[in-house]
Amino acid sequence: MFTGSVVLQFINWCIRGVEMERLIDRFFGKMSSQGLALAYSDVRLRTQYSDVLPQAVDIASRFSRKVPLKIPFASAAMDTVTEHKLAIALAMEGGIGVLHRNMPPAKQVKEVARVKWHMNGFIPTPISVSQDWTVERVKNLRHERGYRFSSFLVTDENGRLVGVLTGNDFEFCQNDSLLVSEVMTRDPLTAPEGTSIDQAFEAMVAYKRKLLPIVNSDGSIAGLFTFSDVKDILTGTASQYNLDSRGRLRVAAAIGVDQKCMDQAQALVREQVDALVIDTAHAHSYGVMEALRELKRSFPTTDIVAGNVSEGKSAYALAIQGADGIKVGQGPGSICTTRIVAGIGCPQLTAVYECAKAVHGMDVPVCADGGIKYSGDVTVALAAGADCVMLGGMLAGTDEAPGEVFLWQGRQFKRYRGMGSAGALNESAVCRERYSEGSKDHSVPEGVEGRVPYRGPLRHVIRQFVGGLRKGMGYTGSKTLRDLWDKADFWYYSTGSKDESHVHDVEMTVEPPNYRGRN
Ligand code: XMP
Repeated sequence: MFTGSVVLQFINWCIRGVEMERLIDRFFGKMSSQGLALAYSDVRLRTQYSDVLPQAVDIASRFSRKVPLKIPFASAAMDTVTEHKLAIALAMEGGIGVLHRNMPPAKQVKEVARVKWHMNGFIPTPISVSQDWTVERVKNLRHERGYRFSSFLVTDENGRLVGVLTGNDFEFCQNDSLLVSEVMTRDPLTAPEGTSIDQAFEAMVAYKRKLLPIVNSDGSIAGLFTFSDVKDILTGTASQYNLDSRGRLRVAAAIGVDQKCMDQAQALVREQVDALVIDTAHAHSYGVMEALRELKRSFPTTDIVAGNVSEGKSAYALAIQGADGIKVGQGPGSICTTRIVAGIGCPQLTAVYECAKAVHGMDVPVCADGGIKYSGDVTVALAAGADCVMLGGMLAGTDEAPGEVFLWQGRQFKRYRGMGSAGALNESAVCRERYSEGSKDHSVPEGVEGRVPYRGPLRHVIRQFVGGLRKGMGYTGSKTLRDLWDKADFWYYSTGSKDESHVHDVEMTVEPPNYRGRN
């Protein structure tokens, strides 16, 4: 008798058998027969006949099983990279941010809320206040929770909607000790449950209202539409945003693997985080496998991404254990010293190829984490089988990353550090757990602290990366990322080829936005 999983594995074997015919498999086959593993800069894609224009290619992808991406980019869960500001900016470009975990657990939950509340099509559980509260109490609530919005629904003692408290009501209120019932706007426009986003838009336009509470037949609140967000979503300004089914920006959050992390996962899921990312330096390990199993059992509707690994068998083990996404990369990062310190690790291009091949047909997206220096590396990573790439250093210099811009030798920089650097290990038990460090005495760093050039707004950086990827797809005649992967074939680059490819025999007088010279 065949069980379901045996049949599934048999089908996977068959699919892999067919895929053996791909050019890229022959390429990597030749390399590995000589014991060679490669980094991104060791290859470039062969060009192919093309009837595809870069601006017409489709670069939609996935971060994890149920979390789509409009552009195949995620940001690193690092304390000099991803907090809510960067996560919001990246989701607005169509990608996803992974909030780091080197902060108090309650703060991380609040960071998720800040992204999810940044804009909303439909808010299923809007914040309401009682008509008996003082204005001061509402203002305090707003401050404590960090709400960006200034409109609240107002209810009576039975939870029925009796009015709305708007920005205008706050502004014209001269005395914060007044009761909400004395300053609120009465008789708000309402609509019944089941009202669609289009109907809500029409009603708000017709009655010139910025809020449309949805109420049940007993007068209790069943949701809320807000005009600015509905308009954004329907009229196109937000069409590129990476939004969940309720019109909220998508965001993921990093977690560890101890018992405290289960409580943290619970709180993050309650805040409707889109994916939990098990954030460890070595995911093919007992602790991570156990945590993954437990998380999958406890939170069956939330995607769990696990990482990091760099061998095919490790990726396969995580997939079999139920991971909804796998993060690949052990040591390729710009601030990483793991390979040098510990003497382990597969170069990133081969790691991505091997891991993607190992889980092919299992519906588990692969995120290529670390080591991206130029936009061309993104095209190469996706051609090798990644579904998206994760950027750390490339985003750490943007306006939206945490930290201030500083001047050094006349140029602007921002701070960027490894989560396994001496500074991070000394400061944080979370970082020590990530790198299996028991105590801060005599810790052995696996990363460095440094600075990266200031790069301005995130959208400028991301659009250069997206543009480079689109061009690569044009040169290879790939309409979709699936095409790119299907057709991919690489040239191996010698040292001479690399010299020839970079700017040579000229001093750059104007620095382009996507190339700062060879590094
Ligand atoms: P990039 O190249 O984008 O890499 O700057 C970011 C990725 O590097 C990983 N990371 C580390 N790896 N020691 C390591 O070996 C560290 O201290 C460290 N900190 C971050 C992480 O996967 C990140 O996404």
